[in-house]
Amino acid sequence: MARHLITSALPYINGIKHLGNMVGSMLPADVYARYLRQRGHDVLYICATDEHGTPAELAAKERGLPVDEFCAQAHDAQKAVYDGFELAFDYFGRSSSPENREITQHFARRLNENGFIEERAIRQVYSPADGRFLPDRYVEGTCPHCGYDKARGDQCENCTRVLDPTDLINPRSAISGSTDLEVRETKHLFLLQSKLQHEVEEWVARHEDEWPQLASSIARKWLNEGLHDRAITRDLDWGVPVPADTWPELAAEGKVFYVWFDAPIEYIGATKEWADQDPQDRDWKSWWYEADTGENPVRYTQFMAKDNVPFHTVMFPATELGVREPWKKVDYVKAFNWLTYYGGKFSTSQRRGVFTDQALDILPADYWRYFLIANAPESDDSSFTWEHFTATVNKDLADTLGNFVNRVLSFSRKRFGDEVPAGAAAGESETRLGEEIAGLLAEYETQMDALQYRKAAAALRALWSAGNSYLEEKAPWLEIKTNPEGAALTLRTAMNLIHLYSVVSQPFIPSSAQAMRSAFALADDTATWVTADGARSLDSVPAGTAFTVPPVLFAKITDEDLEAYKERFGGAPE
Ligand code: MF3
Ligand code: ZN
Repeated sequence: MARHLITSALPYINGIKHLGNMVGSMLPADVYARYLRQRGHDVLYICATDEHGTPAELAAKERGLPVDEFCAQAHDAQKAVYDGFELAFDYFGRSSSPENREITQHFARRLNENGFIEERAIRQVYSPADGRFLPDRYVEGTCPHCGYDKARGDQCENCTRVLDPTDLINPRSAISGSTDLEVRETKHLFLLQSKLQHEVEEWVARHEDEWPQLASSIARKWLNEGLHDRAITRDLDWGVPVPADTWPELAAEGKVFYVWFDAPIEYIGATKEWADQDPQDRDWKSWWYEADTGENPVRYTQFMAKDNVPFHTVMFPATELGVREPWKKVDYVKAFNWLTYYGGKFSTSQRRGVFTDQALDILPADYWRYFLIANAPESDDSSFTWEHFTATVNKDLADTLGNFVNRVLSFSRKRFGDEVPAGAAAGESETRLGEEIAGLLAEYETQMDALQYRKAAAALRALWSAGNSYLEEKAPWLEIKTNPEGAALTLRTAMNLIHLYSVVSQPFIPSSAQAMRSAFALADDTATWVTADGARSLDSVPAGTAFTVPPVLFAKITDEDLEAYKERFGGAPE
């Protein structure tokens, strides 16, 4: 039994996420966590909302709420959607927690003691009308590169260039609209990442061969451009305060840490939040502090979309290294490309694409989970289209899996009553089937262990198809006329396949898997993983076990549904 720490990039607090966010971070992490738990490992899957920064303050302002209230509500709203998707976090925390504040301040003090933090005076936009500095998105104006007139101080949405608020032409306050802005000098803390360049390089060199190419190439690119010192504080009300014991002057001015400084530390913070719920039994440090992990080291896997890779492979490791304490660093970075909507961007402002709450309004989570993971943007971007989604659900889930389950159970019930029939002893077909299933199971495990989701989905699909082929070959609906004992054997074997599917499909489609498993009145209802021998002998559900026929597992999406979805969400761009 190994210890697996799993985190997915922390979803930003300012709104409900779309399917593209889901498939690039939380969903694959959940699938992996479920799989490892079923295989008997000690798993800790941690996530949280990323709550600080200007977008949170501005979103709160838009709703007319104090920012702490806004965040509390928005956190609950996101959590409800993730529950709906059956994301089985061990803990879903909040980066605004006292735990994160404490650890973030500790990190900053240690970095300072070790000579990696420096105070520097810099020029910032100040608004006399608002009586405050205007960091990042608090300034809007015209982009100096492309002329777009609604560019924000941190980035131009039109040309995607990264900006500094002082770059903008005709700047105005995003709070009051005031154009009476000046540039004032003020002090901020800088993290001296340039001093850590060599150490980070060495650390990356030791890990990158194991990472997927997407992650290692991005890390390399950033390192080759050179690590720059960066400002890690902001003039904002909402954030982790700069500790007064170390920087009394900056603390008195009300400075807080920049959101990208405290957000990754919340991986640790949320683990402590988890432990603080049950301090007797939960030891957060044994997951994060390598001095405490002893003989059973933790393997740490992170999940994220590609835009997050620099922060996780270079900047956060630099921070951890500079702290000079044995904080656990990532072992494996699973990075994803983009999921597009008909080849274009999912866009909140243009209302294109599907948001996670809307998705659950129209269809159960398992439909989305399966489609998204089977089409995860692993080696390239992948595209969501309603046509592809409909075809996948109807073929793989409704026809191949759902139909098999319902056909087998209803036919057996009609002919043999509500217990698994005994019938003849297993013959040649069953031996062949068992070999095939054991082989496909091994392939599925190999791909899951390697975090190759598309290939794992293909192996799972092949397992489902093998059942259909067996059924076609044996044709129990004909067999029953001449050889009822043989038909009973076929049905009992098929029911054992259903049970096996209920176990191995659980990471992808947990509620349908549960429905399949509870069809059988077995004493042991846990989804403990199937062994190779178990796959060969297909005898986990013995003759005489009572069963029920569950309602149709997956309803087909009709042509009318398809048209309605395209109408509501927008289909292919004109
Ligand atoms: N909130 C960020 C985003 O949505 C991700 C933060 S990941 C963390 O891109 F490591 F910083 F927490
Ligand atoms: Zn621009």
